Amino acid sequence: MVALPLTNDPAIDPSVQDLIAARPWLKYDAFAGLLLDGVPLAGIAAGAGTPTWAYSAETMRARYRSLADAMTGADLNVEVHFAVKANDRLAVLSLFGAAGAGADVVSGGELLKARRAGIAAARIVYSGVGKSEAELRLALAEDIGQINVESAEELAMLSAIAAGTGQTARVALRVNPDVDAGTNTKITTGRATDKFGIPYADAIALYRQAAGLPGIRPIGLATHIGSQILALAPYRAAYSRIAGLVRALRDHGLHVETVDCGGGLGIPYRNEPAPSPAGLAAAMKQAFHNLDVRLTMEPGRWLVGPAGVLLASVILVKQTPHEPFVVLDAAMNDLVRPAMYDAWHGIVPVAASGAHTLGGPATVVGPVCESGDTLARSRSLPPLTPGAIMAILDAGAYGSVMSSTYNARPLAAEVWVDRGSWSVIGDRQAAEAAWERERLPA
Ligand code: LLP
Repeated sequence: MVALPLTNDPAIDPSVQDLIAARPWLKYDAFAGLLLDGVPLAGIAAGAGTPTWAYSAETMRARYRSLADAMTGADLNVEVHFAVKANDRLAVLSLFGAAGAGADVVSGGELLKARRAGIAAARIVYSGVGKSEAELRLALAEDIGQINVESAEELAMLSAIAAGTGQTARVALRVNPDVDAGTNTKITTGRATDKFGIPYADAIALYRQAAGLPGIRPIGLATHIGSQILALAPYRAAYSRIAGLVRALRDHGLHVETVDCGGGLGIPYRNEPAPSPAGLAAAMKQAFHNLDVRLTMEPGRWLVGPAGVLLASVILVKQTPHEPFVVLDAAMNDLVRPAMYDAWHGIVPVAASGAHTLGGPATVVGPVCESGDTLARSRSLPPLTPGAIMAILDAGAYGSVMSSTYNARPLAAEVWVDRGSWSVIGDRQAAEAAWERERLPA
């Protein structure tokens, strides 16, 4: 991660023109302002209010197609399981289901949502370091395609449950390859010290043990080394270790039919060079092409991140002896990524007039009562007045799904843009709805 990525650096930061030019689904119209797939974002803000998430369905479909084409282009037959955690809205899940994707889930809730969105159980993989007994029972009851087991303890628990119900779980062992993905430490998952996966050195013994356990059918291996990965070298290193394990397991007479290559492919939020799906396909091919394994993968962010924007209104611009503060009606409770990972998101005005005339640097904040509620620092923005609508870019992944009602702020509305018009796919939460589940003590 770049040091202080929140902070603007005119030497490396893209202009508003550059940001928009790099995202063909966004375009300025001189009169209607910023368009998402031809639909004016100003109209969405006027109709649905702010803050509101807006998603381009066509961008999601196009990204799925180009990822799938990259795999086919490398002569790989890969089943894509959308990582539901990146954006679990039913509209999004059913879009990917219809496009042919399966789902990678990490909770009973995600499993139920994926099923509800019409994704076949056989195409669901369940990952995660702490699946509860109830969640494992649900996975068995739904007869999902694969459970990625992350520890010896979990393997024993699953075996006991499956044997008790007379079922057989198709299990992949998620192996920790001890590879540093070189991304933000909070989203790096493949180092030996991370909580994820089975230690590399234990994998063969545990696989052999799994093959002898009641209720368990080991079918392969899985790995996932982190998220927002911007280099292919860590993938190559991890895949080569996993390929080595496949060979070693087979040398031990064990049956291995599938490898789950995980997710993590990064996207350019600022203007970082990011690997392409074709590059990832080449890394997968290099490691696995002569192993005769069925490959799956679990991309999340790459498919949905660029397809979403968060619309916000300027509440006021607070002048100070330092940089002015642009106070938006969207905050860290809506989009937590800047506060949590120092993540950089493009922020552009929706109005076209003056969009390219930048004023001095400003700090963009939300109304939440923490200094961490900072969406951008020292950002060059056009002169803004209260009521101006802003679009926070690349908010389609790990955006609304990570929202909270902190400061008793209701969850924002969510809007779907498709075939030239928009519709609401998630109502703005009513203020009272946020405390509906509460009771005064007796
Ligand atoms: N598979 C597994 C087992 C995962 O844990 C994840 C993400 C993925 C697939 C999908 O990774 P992706 O392709 O989306 O990078 N909230 C953070 C990201 C957390 C990622 C967690 N695991 C953020 O906003 O950057």
